Amino acid sequence: MSQGRLWGGRFRQPTDPRMDAFGRSLPWDGRLAPFDLKVCRAHVTMLTESGITEGSQLIAALEQMGQELAAGTLTVQGEHEDVHSWVEAELSRRVGPDSSNLRIGRSRNDLVVTDFRLWTMQSCQLLKRRTRATQRALLGQAERHPEAYLPGYTHLQRAQPVLLSHHLLAHFWALERDAKRWDAVRDEADCCPLGAGALAGSSWPMNTARTAELLGFSRSFENSLDAVADRDFAVEFLSAASLEMIHLSRLSEELVLWSGSEFGFLELHDSWSTGSSLMPQKRNPDAAELTRGRVGRVVGDLVNLLTQLKALPLAYNRDLQEDKPAAFDACDTLEACLDVLAGMVSACSFRLERMAEAAADPALLATDLADALVRAGHSFAVAHELAGKAQVGELSAEQEQQVAPLLAEVTVERALESRAHPGAAGPQAVARQLERARACLEEQ
Ligand code: ARG
Repeated sequence: MSQGRLWGGRFRQPTDPRMDAFGRSLPWDGRLAPFDLKVCRAHVTMLTESGITEGSQLIAALEQMGQELAAGTLTVQGEHEDVHSWVEAELSRRVGPDSSNLRIGRSRNDLVVTDFRLWTMQSCQLLKRRTRATQRALLGQAERHPEAYLPGYTHLQRAQPVLLSHHLLAHFWALERDAKRWDAVRDEADCCPLGAGALAGSSWPMNTARTAELLGFSRSFENSLDAVADRDFAVEFLSAASLEMIHLSRLSEELVLWSGSEFGFLELHDSWSTGSSLMPQKRNPDAAELTRGRVGRVVGDLVNLLTQLKALPLAYNRDLQEDKPAAFDACDTLEACLDVLAGMVSACSFRLERMAEAAADPALLATDLADALVRAGHSFAVAHELAGKAQVGELSAEQEQQVAPLLAEVTVERALESRAHPGAAGPQAVARQLERARACLEEQ
């Protein structure tokens, strides 16, 4: 075997060093090493149990390597083509040439996608936990402010009063959908491709159910060509990450707007703001802006993978090596954004008086005035017209008489109190919503 690679017999000339460097994936797929060791171990265990080869020495060495890797006494390094080549080189250093029996009935094509699926399943769980932490930060602020209210907006114009807790929980529910989506993506990834070989399966009697079981997958592949070519799980991973980033960008946008003096609804904690090198007065919401700015990266990762897959013939093609940097980048980016937003949201303080002041604008009660006029017997069209005219001071004297007695009952407090049905923005409804939100976090 030539240095750093698992092939070479049919070549008479050395590879151009530029080809070597161009094709090397070790700089990023070294991250799959713990999974690769696990998969190799499961494969050799199955080969041994099936009487195909005797691999107890290999199994012990792989186990040892896994422990050293976890403890940090073994690190992935060298000029190897990829992580699989590194594993085999290290194994051969430890147990000699028998290490290559590891490759019986197995190709890097089924190996890499098995590693990648395991990484994806673990990352879904990690991102779900991080999502829950950000939800917890939003819920904590909602619980801290059960009575505060502010204008709710449509078209970025003041529309109707809403409770602050209701507004914060709107972001909570978007993240709740993301948390559930991580479970669904994990299920998609939960299918073991090991045994598909390079593309056609093996002449050895692979016990694919056994390797799937050893690796904790709940099912194995139906078709060897599909098994090595399928990256749907990675597309779904990137799609879920993109959508969650978009949710975070919407939250971030409001943190930026609300912390600026035009809105003035919240004050960022010093520990989550940054200053300007020139303007001494500045306290900038950089964490929120950077999150907004990083959406493009993650959506770019999704488009990157989709473009790799378009018109790709069956089965494995080297293009597929590019799937992993996209997924790793999206995972790291989303994880970091969830982390900083959780910190930023928990630490900020809301300026309740500014919010109440902004909600005191009588225009916010125009709908409630129209509703009151309907209760007094007008059709909705007439009520809408009258409430609209009242806004611009154009009621006739007679109309004024119809409207005036109702004004006393049209207050922000009443407007909120009356929005009591499930899902509405008033205190009774939000109290029930808070309970359901708490239950989601307890469920895990
Ligand atoms: N580094 C490769 C990847 O990430 C591993 C599979 C390589 N297979 C091959 N036949 N060259 O996809």
